[in-house]
Amino acid sequence: MSYYVARGQLPPKKHTQFRSPGNELYCEEVFGTCGFSGIASILYHLHPPTVMREITGMTPLEYAAEPAGALHHRHFFTGRIATEGDLVSSRRYLLKNDDVLVGVGETAKSMTAFYRNSDGDELLFVQDGSGVLHSPFGDLAVAPGDYVVIPSGMLYRMEIQERMRFIVFEAYGPIELPSRYLNSAGQISEQAPFSERDFHVPEGADPVDESGEFVVQVKKRDRVSTYVYAHHPFDVVGWDGYLYPYTFNISDFQPMTGAIHLPPTIHQTFQGPNIAICSFVPRLFDYHPRAVPVSYFHSNIDTDEVLYYVRGNFMSRRGIESGSLTLHPAGIPHGPQPGAIEASLGKSSTDELAVMMDAFRPLTVLRPANSVEDDNYTFSWQ
Ligand SMILES: [Fe+2]
Repeated sequence: MSYYVARGQLPPKKHTQFRSPGNELYCEEVFGTCGFSGIASILYHLHPPTVMREITGMTPLEYAAEPAGALHHRHFFTGRIATEGDLVSSRRYLLKNDDVLVGVGETAKSMTAFYRNSDGDELLFVQDGSGVLHSPFGDLAVAPGDYVVIPSGMLYRMEIQERMRFIVFEAYGPIELPSRYLNSAGQISEQAPFSERDFHVPEGADPVDESGEFVVQVKKRDRVSTYVYAHHPFDVVGWDGYLYPYTFNISDFQPMTGAIHLPPTIHQTFQGPNIAICSFVPRLFDYHPRAVPVSYFHSNIDTDEVLYYVRGNFMSRRGIESGSLTLHPAGIPHGPQPGAIEASLGKSSTDELAVMMDAFRPLTVLRPANSVEDDNYTFSWQ
């Protein structure tokens, strides 16, 4: 994130002696990216975060891709994929390239192990359900419609309160606010579709002072390694810095509209490594008396375009349901389906809710997507 946050107890100066009431030194950890020059936070633990007792396993991650074929427009009913497990193990991956892994999942089960994705930041979009994201930074409430940004390398455990359905973008790099929304001081500018007040950060929690056996799973380099640590990892008495998990609810995205149709980039919410994430939310349509509210035809020459339909009435698409995910590969024109333009004329608003990802490098479709594919979609412009 782009602003400084401090929680709990901190010494007046960093990298100086900081002791407990019992005169024990707290263990200072610099948690950051890009060596020691990138975005970072400093945490103070009761115990060293390094006391590993055992390595108990390694699970290779394999992503079976469909055979190469002619590129065409695709539609997957992801809500029909049966999943089980917790927030991590229920994920079924559908799309992948070297920048991002896209998966969906559904879970009613709280995580028991602690998990860390060290490949990059995770961006979770919670379609339904609620829970609490526990981390060394404290507890963060998660509600329907929330985007949850989980920094690379941060240990977490999601507690589920209500059955959660989600789509996850596992980036191989940072998920950030789009640079053009920030002014030269790093503040979110008045031109942005949100402000700092719309972002929610853990309030901090009492440190957990427990010793024993704590299972930690780490995803890195196409494998999950499992370790047993001697101390509870959420034993933090205070932290400060710019790197922490946060939520942003899609209902707080302030849509921008104009006299005539504005391109999808106006809906951008996050940027990642060669990806852009956009939010399509209920909004008024364009107000020119002869405006055409639906999108024009376009060929997205530079990007593979992924749209995840959350809910609402999708004017330009037939046969779409909640959880539908479309993939429009680069270079093939798409746009409103037959009749959609005429039907849109004179409409004043839309209630659609959708999340879009543009990927600037080609995506591969993974096998789990094939089982829920809509075979009629490719020719649905006829
Ligand atoms: Fe498009």
